[in-house]
Amino acid sequence: MSTTWTSRYAQRTKSIKSSAIRELLKVTQRPEVISFAGGLPAPDVFPTERFREACCKVLETNGKSALQYGATEGYEPLREMIARHTSRYGVQANPENVLITSGSQQALDLIGKLLINPGDSVLVEAPTYLGALQAFNVYGAEYLSVPSDEDGIRTDMLEKPLRSGPKFMYVLPNFQNPGGTTLSEGRRQELVLLADRFGIPIVEDDPYGQLRYEGEHLTPLVVLDRENLRRDNGYSIGNVIYLSTFSKTLAPGLRLGWIVAPPDVIAKLVQLKQGGDLHTSTFTQIVAYEVARDNFLDEHIKVIRNVYRERRDAMLEALQEFFPPDVEWTHPKGGLFLWITLPKGMDCQKLFETALKENVAFVPGGSFYANNGEEGKRHMRLNFSYVPPGQIREGIRRLSVAVKRQLVELHPLSFVK
Ligand SMILES: Cc1ncc(COP(=O)(O)O)c(C=O)c1O
Repeated sequence: MSTTWTSRYAQRTKSIKSSAIRELLKVTQRPEVISFAGGLPAPDVFPTERFREACCKVLETNGKSALQYGATEGYEPLREMIARHTSRYGVQANPENVLITSGSQQALDLIGKLLINPGDSVLVEAPTYLGALQAFNVYGAEYLSVPSDEDGIRTDMLEKPLRSGPKFMYVLPNFQNPGGTTLSEGRRQELVLLADRFGIPIVEDDPYGQLRYEGEHLTPLVVLDRENLRRDNGYSIGNVIYLSTFSKTLAPGLRLGWIVAPPDVIAKLVQLKQGGDLHTSTFTQIVAYEVARDNFLDEHIKVIRNVYRERRDAMLEALQEFFPPDVEWTHPKGGLFLWITLPKGMDCQKLFETALKENVAFVPGGSFYANNGEEGKRHMRLNFSYVPPGQIREGIRRLSVAVKRQLVELHPLSFVK
């Protein structure tokens, strides 16, 4: 008798849908499509030669350890490097505060495993990172959504949801995915103080913080938490867990991220990670360490910033040139995305179909809302890091054709520029 697998799937699989973005990316991979859909770094900035040299060196000098099982916490010199590196950005960390993960995505899964019981609520921004929702959904999370604007999450709207006692807040302070917005200094202070007042921890997800194209670096929440509230140096009573990754600064194919947290939290996460994958690839960690060392990573980040700043500017200029005046967009100071708001009545899901006919793609906003995809109907996320600047203008021109077509359908008598 053959097994009916579906009847045997665990309860937790019921709340899982495949990522709308991954499905979309399949259709957008036709060569004639200019895709602003994925969150992909530009492949031309991957330091492939440096990786080739590092791989050879690691195999020649350290091959036996590099190909062996390793510690769950991660490769010690890499943990030290990350601790030193994050300390420079104001996040005081020791190696025992650092757990290496298989990308930040695994960090989000581990956080879900650590903190979420079925039915627990998680406070998130509206909109927020789709991958976090996917990771938390498996553990039966419910959501309290708080709107964001150009200055990040609306701290003036936090008290009521915090009063209802969410398990934690998940926040993206720098160049948010999908909004491209940055949490202002003032709101950072408010957020940390509110978190302390209501005793609600913060998970600070920061994959893009170093990709800043204008303005000054703002203090991470994990630092404000420590400074304002005089946390001790061992993070033993810290209110913030901080996540970051090499995906946007070295290469996403490495699958290397990290968690900075109090040592007792790291110890629990280590146990949970053991059940998942024992440890992150030893070889990859040692190679990444060899690539990043001797200041290479800092120099490389400067190169990436220049490349992405040019692409962001190309997109902003093209939007100004081609889009009708009643469309709005964010002005990201860093990161990979900007966020478009269309006039009332527009439907980006339908627009996606028309845009594909024009051979251009984006991600409709609905997927980024935890509770109500309807809110996202008027929004689209555009990625500006992947497409070369020469094609960005043409892609935005094509997209503007699709937008104007829907606007005319909506208001048949209007004249659209
Ligand atoms: C906000 C955010 N968090 C986490 C991730 C996952 O990154 P990683 O490639 O390190 O798993 C991404 C990827 O785009 C992201 O945008």
